[in-house]
Amino acid sequence: AEALRVGIAGLGTVGASVARVLGDKAAELTRQCGRDIVVTAVSARDPKRDRGVDLGSATWFDDAVKMAEKADIDVFVELIGGDEGPALASVKAALGAGRHVVTANKALLAKHGVQLAEIAEKKGVLLNYEAAVAGGIPVIKTMREAMAGNSVTRVFGILNGTCNYILTRMEAEGISFDACLKDAQRLGYAEADPTFDIEGHDTAHKLSILTSLAFGTKIAANDIYMEGISNISQADIRAAGDLGYRIKLLGVAQRTDSGIEQRVHPTMVPTASVIAQVHGVTNAVAIETDILGELLLSGPGAGGNATASAVIGDIADIAKSRPGFQHGPVFGRPAKELKPYKKAQ
Ligand code: HSE
Repeated sequence: AEALRVGIAGLGTVGASVARVLGDKAAELTRQCGRDIVVTAVSARDPKRDRGVDLGSATWFDDAVKMAEKADIDVFVELIGGDEGPALASVKAALGAGRHVVTANKALLAKHGVQLAEIAEKKGVLLNYEAAVAGGIPVIKTMREAMAGNSVTRVFGILNGTCNYILTRMEAEGISFDACLKDAQRLGYAEADPTFDIEGHDTAHKLSILTSLAFGTKIAANDIYMEGISNISQADIRAAGDLGYRIKLLGVAQRTDSGIEQRVHPTMVPTASVIAQVHGVTNAVAIETDILGELLLSGPGAGGNATASAVIGDIADIAKSRPGFQHGPVFGRPAKELKPYKKAQ
């Protein structure tokens, strides 16, 4: 089969990891997918910066939209970030040009996901976003593909690696909030603007996507009650510990008699509970359904390689799909048929 041609827009922590792993694991990916996966185009702000990646013969574009429209690619991988600007414009351009899109951009999907899904479904191309929620944990595939027939009653979890890393180290080592945040930034876990992590926006973006998948509703990120961890002190953590609890930043969405409740806030969880054992940059997602019961997924939630693993899984899915194959709906059911979100009263 012909090689799958990939264009990567954005070469930050995640983009550079994706390019590196696609190169290092090329032979393995060819064996698994039955065809080569080749990076034929890249775009980033600074073409000269050394990212420790050999980009081979890939064509450089200084403009992501131009790459989405003009490059010789089958898949456009958006790792630029931001919920407007070049991220939105380039994803729209790529889908409009009939190319598959892979993105890790939760902020973009939280704001424009349904509209982008409609374009993808109309064009018959894939819009894959496993890396957008809970880093390397395959929660989107699980909810989209493996839970057919289940009715979800609740989905909740630890969805931000930076916050969980900060809370874990504050408790275990008594280190200050600011020092922990600096380390999380240095390790490539935090958002470009870390207030998105610590004030709960990032968790809310991810939760809004899970809510749509769980309940078949339109994404409604603006209806999420949100409180971050920036006011959590060592004294709070110690007081919770004395009472037999640990503080975790949770995102929770649940069905109630009067609608769907979505919230993000620091939560006291019993120290002996499974969710309290999720440490460091690890994320966890619990899904409760009528048929399956309770499922708990946990794994690396942020960082270059963990996120790259999910991006590459999405690219490999496209490599394995065959021409003419009708692709399934982006949010597990056709975007046009997503129900309006009804906020719990
Ligand atoms: N800043 C995010 C986090 C990256 O810390 O979880 C992964 O989405």
